[in-house]
Amino acid sequence: MNIKDKVILITGAGTGLGKALAIAAGQAGAKVICAGRRKERIQQTATEVTKAGGVGTAVEMDVTDPKSVEKALHQAEKAGPIEILINNAGVITGLKPVQELPVEEWDKIMATNVRGPYLLIRATLPGMIQRGFGRILNISAPIKHLPKATAYCASKCALDSLTKAVSYEVKGTDILVNAVEPPFLDTEMHKGGKKPEEVVGQILDLAALDAGGQGGRIVKIG
Ligand SMILES: NC(=O)c1ccc[n+]([C@@H]2O[C@H](COP(=O)([O-])OP(=O)(O)OC[C@H]3O[C@@H](n4cnc5c(N)ncnc54)[C@H](OP(=O)(O)O)[C@@H]3O)[C@@H](O)[C@H]2O)c1
Repeated sequence: MNIKDKVILITGAGTGLGKALAIAAGQAGAKVICAGRRKERIQQTATEVTKAGGVGTAVEMDVTDPKSVEKALHQAEKAGPIEILINNAGVITGLKPVQELPVEEWDKIMATNVRGPYLLIRATLPGMIQRGFGRILNISAPIKHLPKATAYCASKCALDSLTKAVSYEVKGTDILVNAVEPPFLDTEMHKGGKKPEEVVGQILDLAALDAGGQGGRIVKIG
């Protein structure tokens, strides 16, 4: 699908994969809403999106907080209704054996990696259903059963389930919901691996499937 002029919301767009996706979408002429908590980071990304040939807008958003999501979406939709949602914001902290993992750490990881995508989907899906068009791509991960990363693994498994279940709910419409498992990427989250720029083409292709494309998939990319 040609994403020129499409309104794309990307969470966690101030750094790493989200930033690279935003700039690549900008190069393709999209209107990119760059969401995240650190204002200066998302503003920097939005500026780079516009320089690349798109239209970048920064919106402050804490994906774990329904009020923050609602307020940010109200601001974001001045660019137009959200047509493509990329749930990219995520955290991997508290890497320790499960019996040592504080409850607060578990809750923070689940809130960012699962509740966040749920809140964003909940807020944007009604408009997509009303307009009869939408694309949702959740950024999952290939690690699902790694010792000392129980909360992160459980959160990404839950995200995959959310992806499939929502996809079944919108079956028969032109709304496609998928998830992607990127390889290790060199970002704030993880040192070493591929540069995010090496995988953004594949990810944007999945986020912008043509009508009739398949939903409910968890796609591993290399
Ligand atoms: N790096 C890897 O090897 C790898 C591999 C597979 C999958 N992934 C997935 O790729 C996605 C992006 O990760 P990354 O590697 O690019 O790491 P990153 O640079 O740390 O990016 C994570 C982004 O999420 C944002 N974020 C965190 N908590 C948030 C919250 N409560 N509300 C809004 N935004 C929040 C952060 O921005 P603020 O702190 O400014 O809000 C940050 O920009 C994640 O979902 C991750 O699980 C990464």
